Amino acid sequence: MTDAAQRISALRHELDAHNYRYYVLDEPSIPDAEYDRLFCELQQLEQAHPELISADSPTQRVGGSALQAFAEVQHSVPMLSLNNAFSEDDLRAFDRSVQAGLGLPPGDLFGGGAEVDYSCEPKLDGLAVSLLYVDGLLVRGATRGDGSTGEDISANVRTIRTIPLRLQGSGWPARLEVRGEVFMPRAGFEALNARQVDAGAKTFANPRNAAAGSLRQLDPKITASRPLEFCAYGVGEYAADLPSSHIAMLEQLKAWGLPISRELRLARGVDACLAYYAEIGARRQSLAYDIDGVVFKVNSLEDQQQLGFRARSPHWAIAHKFPAQEELTELLDVEFQVGRTGAVTPVARLRPVQVAGVTVSNATLHNMDEVARLGLMIGDTLIIRRAGDVIPQVMAVVPERRPADARPVQIPAQCPVCGSAVERTQLVKRSKGRASLSEGAVYRCVGRLSCEAQLKQAIIHFVSRRAMDIDGLGEKIVEQLVDNGLVHSPADLYRLTHEQVLALEGFAELSTRNLLAAIAGSRQPSLARFIFALGIPDVGEETAKLLARALGNLPRISQALPEVLTWLPDVGQEVAHEIHSFFADAHNRQVINELLEHGVQPQQSSELAAEFTACASLAELLEKLAIPGIASTGARLLAEQTGSLEALIALSQDWLTLAQCKGLNEKARQALREFFADPQQRRRAEDIDAQLQAFGMHWLSERRQAGGLPLLGQTWVLTGTLESLSRDQAKQQLEALGAKVAGSVSSKTHCVVAGPGAGSKLAKAAELGIRVLDEEALLSTLQELAEQCDE
Ligand code: IVH
Repeated sequence: MTDAAQRISALRHELDAHNYRYYVLDEPSIPDAEYDRLFCELQQLEQAHPELISADSPTQRVGGSALQAFAEVQHSVPMLSLNNAFSEDDLRAFDRSVQAGLGLPPGDLFGGGAEVDYSCEPKLDGLAVSLLYVDGLLVRGATRGDGSTGEDISANVRTIRTIPLRLQGSGWPARLEVRGEVFMPRAGFEALNARQVDAGAKTFANPRNAAAGSLRQLDPKITASRPLEFCAYGVGEYAADLPSSHIAMLEQLKAWGLPISRELRLARGVDACLAYYAEIGARRQSLAYDIDGVVFKVNSLEDQQQLGFRARSPHWAIAHKFPAQEELTELLDVEFQVGRTGAVTPVARLRPVQVAGVTVSNATLHNMDEVARLGLMIGDTLIIRRAGDVIPQVMAVVPERRPADARPVQIPAQCPVCGSAVERTQLVKRSKGRASLSEGAVYRCVGRLSCEAQLKQAIIHFVSRRAMDIDGLGEKIVEQLVDNGLVHSPADLYRLTHEQVLALEGFAELSTRNLLAAIAGSRQPSLARFIFALGIPDVGEETAKLLARALGNLPRISQALPEVLTWLPDVGQEVAHEIHSFFADAHNRQVINELLEHGVQPQQSSELAAEFTACASLAELLEKLAIPGIASTGARLLAEQTGSLEALIALSQDWLTLAQCKGLNEKARQALREFFADPQQRRRAEDIDAQLQAFGMHWLSERRQAGGLPLLGQTWVLTGTLESLSRDQAKQQLEALGAKVAGSVSSKTHCVVAGPGAGSKLAKAAELGIRVLDEEALLSTLQELAEQCDE
């Protein structure tokens, strides 16, 4: 065999294998761009060696064979494919061939020539479907299959809501075959994948696969549950005279109730086509669905007829593809980066490849669970995707291309920067009253600030604008300070001397004085900035602000038990655990003490914010303890009947009284008794209770006993946006003071709180003469009422 014959045979085998995976299994293993390249290579080789063309070459037919499980459908008019244009030159060549085919003057360098009218439509990334309407009724839906034989998927297409079962209007031909694309909009795709994850089922790589997988279901109930849509782009059989143009024909289909593209336009001449391509390309990411290019069709149907077809595609249409968003490349290695909190993150080092116009040579792999999910091995060929500005992502491995010497990816046992141990994070879970640990996805270097990577990142974070805001301390300087051994913790910044800074590269007298002044000037940050600057894992600016505002001072924040922290809005168990263990760590405590010793004084109040004093209730404490069998109703009943933890514990151990307790079944009573009989659990409950009391977070129930809540019996309405607290927080506080918070204004409403953007509710309040407060007035009212309660 000659070299060319060998290559042709290899390409045919490879393309056949991909076709099978793509059309039959719906599991493509290479991106479309790679398939197109292989196909082009084969086409070119066959053009150069026409004696080697055989009838079974993938270039001589349209696709794969039909699935066995569905009945076969013969397409009376073949379902063709489209030729591709990958560049402006390709498109201009297509335009010239159209002009030539129609016998029109082609024009020259200076323009001129006859301009052809083209219809422009997005090229939807789904799968082609034929719909047959007989006497206006949908009688059959079919896939394209190999172009002449498809599969009967009538039951499935009937489940797609955008496909009419009966045509509207009148005048349709007795037999009308509509062709178009079935696709899945991106939002529906994301939601479907989220559902698949919840159900422990396989997720789909992209919306096209999801659409294909959903349409090829033998059970139409599954198809019905999938967010599929249809868009018509042409006709097959048409037992009547056709309108005069492609666009008129689509408009006609639309009048009969079929969805067509909203982006359908007419372009006169190739330059207008290029403008359309650029315009849609710029909007590509904001469309609700994936498109991989645009389709240009000669608009006049008479001209289409004159131009005719070749084997696989018409002469009168072309798909102008966008640069591929997915490409193949090789995984050269996996390196591990150490972040600020010690997280050791795998990073893929790739053979550089152009994806959507940008060279990609690295991609984050997020964590080791992701590496396992993808099944990556070093040496593998990977599919890389880059959409818009989105950072490149590794989508999948191409299993067929795994080399024999592929190596597994292993998390290093030692930190690549400092050599400390690398440990897997543990997640704390509380369920049925017991704390249990499970393995997290993140590995951490345990070296903390003794690890140079963590130290540098921690200091860069500490000095950053939103943290301690030390001007003039850029990354390069931080590196020098660490590399020269001048700084081992953020506290050391406040010990730097004039001589030490002056000796650094790039520093002179003035710059030295400026930097030291900036450091000294940062000594009195707000408490929120200070907390944020500490770099507690999972504590961003917002959480830091919340902690500062709610708890008021550093001692409370650093001592707060995880359960107490979860009383704050938006603080969940995980974050509460991170905060608590950060402050429990001896090394972190030492750094904080040193900062304070060096004169750093976070601005704090001794007060617990009024908004939180009234937020705790005994029922909630009971819920947080997660006693088996005691859910919110049981917790509320017990709280009402006892009023304090002490009384509750006494009750739980007093079998006789407990037996008379309302609303608890035998099992719950037993669980309650066992829970508080366990000294550890009892201590935990008492500690939380004591801390709440110490912080001044009063029981709602105590408040009630103390003479009723000030807003009891009142109905309040919140409308518009609030700035310093969320609507939920405002609601919680109002409820804590006894108010009922309702969604609509009526004559029974006592007060309306209106922020910017308030509309009809505010108008209604004005109409009914109801008191209206703005945010400032609300805050001072809350404060006053909370103080009244305290008295
Ligand atoms: S026209 C003879 N128009 O692209 C012309 N196709 O590569 C046949 N496609 O099988 C197709 N959007 O699944 C046409 N606006 C559009 C399209 C479109 C997507 C798909 C279709 C077809 C494939 C051809």
